[in-house]
Amino acid sequence: MAADKHSSWSYTEGLPDEDDILLRARERSHELGVSPVTPAVGAALTVLAAASKASTAVEVGAGAGVSGVCLLRGLGRQAVLTTIDADVDHLRAAREAYAEAGIPTNRTRTISGRASDVLPRLTDRAYDLVFLDADKAGLPGYVEQATRLLKEGGMLIVNDALDQDRVPEPAVREASTTTLRQVGRLVRENETLVSALLPTGTGLLLAVKQRP
Ligand SMILES: C[S@@+](CC[C@H](N)C(=O)[O-])C[C@H]1O[C@@H](n2cnc3c(N)ncnc32)[C@H](O)[C@@H]1O
Repeated sequence: MAADKHSSWSYTEGLPDEDDILLRARERSHELGVSPVTPAVGAALTVLAAASKASTAVEVGAGAGVSGVCLLRGLGRQAVLTTIDADVDHLRAAREAYAEAGIPTNRTRTISGRASDVLPRLTDRAYDLVFLDADKAGLPGYVEQATRLLKEGGMLIVNDALDQDRVPEPAVREASTTTLRQVGRLVRENETLVSALLPTGTGLLLAVKQRP
């Protein structure tokens, strides 16, 4: 019998057994009109954060806190997550999710503002992990900022890197799809990065910064 990729995808998305904290954060996301990371992406974020042994992480696009809770659950007890969002209501919901998850307030720094204004103010080579999940138009600039912010050995993660599965379709020329193709090229061609594109969720682009 032929194997079916879509069944594998549905199977992996159905595996994470999310607790009430994540389910409530998902509910608030939907009320606010925010698309949270899928369950398999959330699980991958927890594993990647744990594997990276990061002590400092940045997230662009807090939403209602689903990805933040997943990252914080993988990060060490001393690690701090700086999360940026342009929408104060989203940040308030994210803070509620972190509190419900029992995350001490000194482990999160929530910054309200546009990523293009906030990222340039963060310190060079001070972060172990950068997760990007906000507006597509700004992504090329955020990737450039992320490579500046990351320490050697630090990890960049870009969510929805396949733009809802449109990136592989050559006929699709929508702005967001073209931007995601450009971001994939930028990362692959950057000699300081080793990268991999996973089909998890709607595409998870991973890259690690190496010595130039
Ligand atoms: C897809 S949602 C993030 C979902 C979140 N990562 C999660 O999994 O729960 C995108 C978020 O990016 C924020 N956003 C959009 N454009 C932004 C920008 N230019 N700067 C900062 N945040 C932005 C939106 O307000 C929204 O909360």
